[in-house]
Amino acid sequence: MFLTTLLVCFFSDIAFGDYYKVQPDFVKTCVKDDPGFINCSTHAVQILFNKIPEGLPEIGLPPLDPLHLDEIKILQGGGGPVTVNASLTNVTVRGFGKTKILYNSVDPKTYDFLTKLHLDKLRMEGDYRLLGRILVIPLRGKGNCWFDAKNISIEAKSDVTLIKKHGFTFYNITAIHVKFDIGGLKFHMGNLFDGIKALEESTNAYLNANWRPVADSLNPILTKTVEDIMIGILKTVFDNLPADFFLADIGEDLDSNLS
Ligand SMILES: *[C@@H]1O[C@H](CO)[C@@H](O)[C@H](O)[C@H]1NC(C)=O
Ligand SMILES: *[C@@H]1O[C@H](CO)[C@@H](O)[C@H](O)[C@H]1NC(C)=O
Ligand SMILES: *[C@@H]1O[C@H](CO)[C@@H](O)[C@H](O)[C@H]1NC(C)=O
Ligand SMILES: *[C@@H]1O[C@H](CO)[C@@H](O)[C@H](O)[C@H]1NC(C)=O
Ligand SMILES: *[C@@H]1O[C@H](CO)[C@@H](O)[C@H](O)[C@H]1NC(C)=O
Repeated sequence: MFLTTLLVCFFSDIAFGDYYKVQPDFVKTCVKDDPGFINCSTHAVQILFNKIPEGLPEIGLPPLDPLHLDEIKILQGGGGPVTVNASLTNVTVRGFGKTKILYNSVDPKTYDFLTKLHLDKLRMEGDYRLLGRILVIPLRGKGNCWFDAKNISIEAKSDVTLIKKHGFTFYNITAIHVKFDIGGLKFHMGNLFDGIKALEESTNAYLNANWRPVADSLNPILTKTVEDIMIGILKTVFDNLPADFFLADIGEDLDSNLS
């Protein structure tokens, strides 16, 4: 059993109802039934990802590099190798601006899309509060922390439905399923054990030396966190950016099913 809650500042003050009525220059149109579609849509998503990290204030999307999150709460009950009750507040994540899109395809029937991304590095900093057990080590602390991950591969499948609105077709993102793998992780939790320095340093060193099992044991929690962040971003983008701008031949076969 695990649970994450994400309180993201930027969903509170979005001006709903603003959407792109004219195709912006960072959106490239592809034709789903063309043979070169996967190459075309992979480039189209790359162009979009080159743009969105600076933010799209016209639709209420804040800058994503650095990305600020007010709070991430993590709760995972006993049983497995990890039991944690943790929160991260005042979080800054750096690195999304350099996202490489390796692949993007769209299911011809459901319009769900599958995207493969790669990031050379991602850094997260914030204030943590932690009580729990990771790799059988009991942990307790409250202070600053940072995490550096490198060579990150992400595979994201987005489930969508289509909505007709204002004469356009929009993607309604209903769920995201993420798988990810990291090639390295370094981190530091300051003031672990309320400042017993020797224990703090030896525990950080031990966990860093064993970063792979640490990362594996945290994978379900991190996956849920990445999904929550991505769904918030993608919903903001696609609620306001007609899908017709991406797919010239969207919904031609579906119009009769949509009101
Ligand atoms: C893939 O798309 C890019 C950008 O549209 C284009 O420059 C390139 O030639 C395409 N590659 C292939 C193999 O079609
Ligand atoms: C988790 O910790 C917070 C304080 O850090 C506490 O208020 C909460 O009750 C804890 N939750 C559980 C399930 O232990
Ligand atoms: C949040 O973190 C930044 C540094 O990353 C710091 O300057 C700021 O004071 C912090 N804000 C709060 C409310 O702790
Ligand atoms: C990055 O990870 C991939 C597998 O996900 C691996 O094939 C590749 O060699 C790694 N690259 C570096 C520089 O570590
Ligand atoms: C979008 O999908 C959600 C399910 O995630 C659904 O509750 C909602 O009604 C859909 N919106 C529209 C306008 O169809």
